[in-house]
Amino acid sequence: MSPRDRYFVPMAAPRVRTDQGAKTQVRVGVLGLGNVGGALVELIATNADAIEARSGVRLDIAKIAVRDLKRGRDKALLPECLTKDAHEVVSDETIDIVVELIGGLEPARTLVLEALAAGKQVVTANKELLANFGPELFDAAGKSGSALLFEGSVGGAIPLVRALRVSLAGEHIRRVMGIVNGTTNYILSQMSEEKVSYKDALVEAQSLGYAERDPTADVAGFDAAAKAAILAGIAFNARIGLSEVYREGIETINVSDIDFAHRLGYEVKLLAIAERIETAVPEPPRIAVRVHPAMLPTTHPLAGVRGAFNAVFVEGESSGELMFYGRGAGGKATASAVLGDLLDAACDVGSSARESHLSRVHVTIDPIDNLRTQYYLTVDVLDRPGVLASVATVFGMHDVSIRSMEQVGLGEDARLVFITHMAREADVQATLGGLRALDVVEHIGGLIRVVGHEL
Ligand SMILES: NC(=O)c1ccc[n+]([C@@H]2O[C@H](COP(=O)([O-])OP(=O)(O)OC[C@H]3O[C@@H](n4cnc5c(N)ncnc54)[C@H](OP(=O)(O)O)[C@@H]3O)[C@@H](O)[C@H]2O)c1
Repeated sequence: MSPRDRYFVPMAAPRVRTDQGAKTQVRVGVLGLGNVGGALVELIATNADAIEARSGVRLDIAKIAVRDLKRGRDKALLPECLTKDAHEVVSDETIDIVVELIGGLEPARTLVLEALAAGKQVVTANKELLANFGPELFDAAGKSGSALLFEGSVGGAIPLVRALRVSLAGEHIRRVMGIVNGTTNYILSQMSEEKVSYKDALVEAQSLGYAERDPTADVAGFDAAAKAAILAGIAFNARIGLSEVYREGIETINVSDIDFAHRLGYEVKLLAIAERIETAVPEPPRIAVRVHPAMLPTTHPLAGVRGAFNAVFVEGESSGELMFYGRGAGGKATASAVLGDLLDAACDVGSSARESHLSRVHVTIDPIDNLRTQYYLTVDVLDRPGVLASVATVFGMHDVSIRSMEQVGLGEDARLVFITHMAREADVQATLGGLRALDVVEHIGGLIRVVGHEL
């Protein structure tokens, strides 16, 4: 018995409900054969027997759509199944499940809609698509009675979506907070541990293949925001669009900010946070969703997540605190999550398909202005008499109380580092506006919100 066979030990009872008419042989159409698509096809082709022994489902890859047929590809990637016409795959009546691994918005959106309209189950790992068109796609899935599964879209290999959607379906979730972008976590880890500048850490991330040549989607927080929208949607049983997620990236963070955080017993992480705001009137639920750099106590489990790893910390009323950790990206890791969805969807093929997921609870999104927390901010000022007093006056005018202030450097390089007491975001933003208007203020550095116990 090979190690792989040992891993795929046959389950006591097959998951496929053959008694209800589910098929044991399922034909799969794959859209896209890149990092994830290629790894998925290879995984299925090499493990088909073991997968069948374990799950009772035989996955047959019927067709694979690519953009460029002339591209050299490995024989393991089933060149005989390739087509340039993705519509041919979604309209093929013999195909039961379509796996969308093209990425981006179009033609992915149209293809997924076509597949759902044709009554096929759909699996995707496309966070951008879900964050932008989730409501339309889930409506289409609901109408056709097909499943739309998306485990690979958040947290790569980490079984997170199913855990929130199924295992924690009855749980009153208070907060989901995670490191969901490996590129920014790698950069911040390098800055924290090796004291390299943001720029150098980014170049290193690019050379290792963690960051794209244009890193905007990662470093400006767009990728994390798309995942935050998806996570918030599952955790709070709602439909939350990308435009409802407040977003900031890590571009303004520097090593001195991180060093300062260390002195206070904190680590700096880019966090995606979705939380329920407890209000006197419980309906509709009030939800806050945001992505921004945060100072997190070094004792918090998320503070220890290093390099390109991802982790999501869930706080539930009955479950207490849970943490999900693993590889958040990579073709093979993501293909593992996609395969799980594929087998899940295969269980519904031929039987009366279940209702689609992500229901329709109406929620109110709490604006970022309402956030109350402590803030770290740096202000570069001219070293002149009276500067401190005028800066402090601006804080006071906007009801932002200063917990501590430290001056770093002298003369032209004077930098004031502030930690506020608990303050309202709207007041802090008004303070920043007031500070910018002072002629003694040269530059306002990164604003970092404090998460966790009060400083
Ligand atoms: N890579 C990761 O680590 C990761 C992790 C989590 C989620 N995801 C998500 O998974 C999805 C796929 O990512 P990826 O990294 O595998 O992308 P990728 O490497 O760029 O692969 C994209 C594939 O789609 C094909 N394609 C593009 N346009 C097409 C069209 N119009 N018709 C048919 N095929 C088309 C390309 O064909 P050619 O091969 O001919 O160019 C390529 O095979 C994305 O939504 C991504 O966000 C990726």
